[in-house]
Amino acid sequence: MPRPHGNKLINRYITKESTEFEEMPTYEINTNLAEDVMNIASGVFSPLTGFLGYNDLHNVVHHKRLSNDTPWTLPILFDCAKKDEISEGDTIMLTNKETDLKALLDVKEIYKYDKKTLAKEIYTTTDPSHPGVDMLYNMNDSFIGGNIILINKNKRTFDDYNLTPRETRILFNEKGWKEIVAFQTRNPPHLGHEYVQKAALTFVDGIFINPILGKKKPGDFKDEVILKSYETLMEKYYLKQRSVMSVLRTSMKYAGPREAIHHAIMRKNFGCTHFIVGRDHAGVGNYYGPYDAHDIFKEFPDLGITPVFFRSFSRCTKCGSVVNDKICPHDQKYHINFSGKKIRALLREGNVPSEDMMRKEVAETILQFDKPFVE
Ligand code: ADX
Repeated sequence: MPRPHGNKLINRYITKESTEFEEMPTYEINTNLAEDVMNIASGVFSPLTGFLGYNDLHNVVHHKRLSNDTPWTLPILFDCAKKDEISEGDTIMLTNKETDLKALLDVKEIYKYDKKTLAKEIYTTTDPSHPGVDMLYNMNDSFIGGNIILINKNKRTFDDYNLTPRETRILFNEKGWKEIVAFQTRNPPHLGHEYVQKAALTFVDGIFINPILGKKKPGDFKDEVILKSYETLMEKYYLKQRSVMSVLRTSMKYAGPREAIHHAIMRKNFGCTHFIVGRDHAGVGNYYGPYDAHDIFKEFPDLGITPVFFRSFSRCTKCGSVVNDKICPHDQKYHINFSGKKIRALLREGNVPSEDMMRKEVAETILQFDKPFVE
């Protein structure tokens, strides 16, 4: 099993009665930020112990590394709503009603960073119609860098699937898995997803299916739809002793290649040795080339998790099987693409997509939901 990123699995909890902190000023934060706090505390974002300060952010933006040279590609930022009430050196209590979060933030520095530079470097575009850029532009202008401590371990929804990196590492050990491939997703599974997972699993001991739950763009599938459709697929078509599903609660940033590295780092922290990167990983629209997220891994020989690259799979009606451009000699006209867009359009009209694209049982599971999409 790989060592955690930066060699230490971060664990930042205290279990003191929260009445001890009653006198402190409290700041209600949004759920997205609350999830980041919990990911820092549980070690998903190891080696981060808090939100990035200016120096680390500057390095991440321009060198894709923290100031100590550890690979890190996405800014983890605390945007500060009430900056006039907060000063450097304060400790403030963060709360979030939706997740019942209580945490402490040591305000080490309060700073600004040019958002256009952030957008250009992180997302390769300053276009506000990019959903990640839009989220960035909607953040407050000042950021707080500083360490966090989570006070209470809060109860979460989907509790069968809320494993922390500590727990997945124990589980993989118990299963006797030495090599584990992680699969990142934000969608219910189509045949292309199933195919990359099973092709990768052939070479290792187990697969860790790790869907992202949290803030997504309108038109994406809702969290509960993704989980239910995977439950259906795994029940019918996966070996229980070879597959584990658990969720990762963080927002999708749609940052393509940079996000692929970030996705890999988080899965390394969960104890995975390999990470699947397919076509247009974490992409949106036409902002990234289909295999940019493969190329970026060349910049990180020291990442500590092995990427497993896949070319785009489709179904070839001539071969009668799932293929990609490395293994099929037939013309494109014989290929049926696993287009997420097409599948969503069919489901939106209440139609079951062809079994050439999606398992019937998966489609039927999705159609049981009244409103399967984020609005
Ligand atoms: S993502 O935003 O999480 O990347 P999605 O859930 O669709 O979107 O993809 C999960 C993983 O499967 C990514 O690594 C993606 O590149 C890969 N993938 C999706 N569709 C295909 C396909 N047709 N062929 C190969 N890989 C694919």
